[in-house]
Amino acid sequence: GDDILSIAHEYDVDLEGACEGSVACSTCHVILPEEYYNLLPEPEDDENDMLDMAFGLTDTSRLGCQVK
Ligand code: FES
Repeated sequence: GDDILSIAHEYDVDLEGACEGSVACSTCHVILPEEYYNLLPEPEDDENDMLDMAFGLTDTSRLGCQVK
C-alpha cells in the first residue's frame, strides 16, 4: 500500500498497526504537520471514532493507515 503506515514499515519506522489498516485500532496514530494535514481530505466517521481513542490526540492527528 501507499498509506503512511505501509511506508513507515517499508522504512523500518516503528509505527504499530495492530489491525492492519481495518480501522479497528488506534495504534497507527500519527501527528502530522499542519500544512500537510490541511492538504488531506477529512477523516471518515470510522476513522474519527478510532481517533477519539488515540493516546495524545491532537488537532492534526490521523490514523496512519488511512492517509495516502
Ligand atoms: Fe488499525 Fe490503522 S492499523 S486503525
